[in-house]
Amino acid sequence: MSKTYRVAILGATGAVGTEFLELLASRQFPLADLKLLASPRSAGRTIQFAGESLPVEAVSEAAFNNVDIVLASAGGSTSKLWAAKAVAAGAVVIDNSSAFRMEPNVPLVVPEVNPQAAFTHQGIIANPNCTTILMAVAVWPLHQVEPVQRIVAATYQSASGAGARAMEEMKEQAQAILQGEEAKTEIFPYPLAFNLFTHNSKLNELGYCEEEMKMVNETRKIFANPEMRITATCVRVPVLRAHSEAINLEFGSPFPVAKAKEILSQSPGVKLVEDWQANYFPMPMEASGKDDVLVGRIREDISNPNGLELWLSGDQIRKGAALNAVQIAELLVKENLPSPPELAVSGKN
Ligand code: A2P
Repeated sequence: MSKTYRVAILGATGAVGTEFLELLASRQFPLADLKLLASPRSAGRTIQFAGESLPVEAVSEAAFNNVDIVLASAGGSTSKLWAAKAVAAGAVVIDNSSAFRMEPNVPLVVPEVNPQAAFTHQGIIANPNCTTILMAVAVWPLHQVEPVQRIVAATYQSASGAGARAMEEMKEQAQAILQGEEAKTEIFPYPLAFNLFTHNSKLNELGYCEEEMKMVNETRKIFANPEMRITATCVRVPVLRAHSEAINLEFGSPFPVAKAKEILSQSPGVKLVEDWQANYFPMPMEASGKDDVLVGRIREDISNPNGLELWLSGDQIRKGAALNAVQIAELLVKENLPSPPELAVSGKN
């Protein structure tokens, strides 16, 4: 009989947590047991999974006993509080928060790019930021053929990136505005419906927000290229789910458009979406619920003979978060990891 694993979802009631549940079922993850963890607010709730009604437990130290893999998406402070405890209890934590991403002993993994890094973990594996994952999946195959020398990115990020409550807030704002009422803000600093604003994460002394620096630093770590020249402008747009990105790539010499299309049409996790006659290219509505990152509108940069322009849309909750984490879990399981004894060893390293 093939091996099965005991999984806990930390943040099971959230937008990404809900997607974890869907993916574990649809991808037939070899589950021995599934534990649903959230804040004490959700304790006592039940969630349907594979025809069963599973209880949601408030996270606690004891909740990690007899768990092999924790899929965590409950925010950075929750991960900081619980990840080490889960590792001490013998689990591998695949963490969707930004809490550990830049720690040197924590691998930051996009399975299409650096799957081997997953096996260097010491208990925690970090799932990159959503915008970084989507960009990495599209850029890596080209970078393999001809090293990218510089990336200039602009993002168009949906409400889903701020969680389930943010998505509800944007819907409520849209309804309020259409009824001539004032749009209320609680999660977002400004109304998002019928509006947009630059990403509201903390700004540094250079004027870059945290989200933009995540794209810079995380891509460098994933690509194992600490000097890579990357700049980004991140913007929240009134889209419910799925982020889009305009990406300018500079190579050392001209990169033929036809070659880029051929490479991307065969790249894992990428779907080339282009109909130039119909002016039809990736859209967030069409990327929603899909596993692939939709890439298109690939064209030469008219301002730079060594440049390429491309446009992508990808489901932030799926490939940008839950799917990437479940793919990491699948990598471990494929190599028959983690089994509790091996974990005990890796946890001490
Ligand atoms: P809860 O629903 O009980 O608040 P999202 O990213 O969609 O906002 O979801 C966040 C997830 O993280 C939810 O499942 C939420 O649970 C969970 N969460 C938030 N704060 C905590 C906490 N302090 N401890 C455990 N889980 C938390």
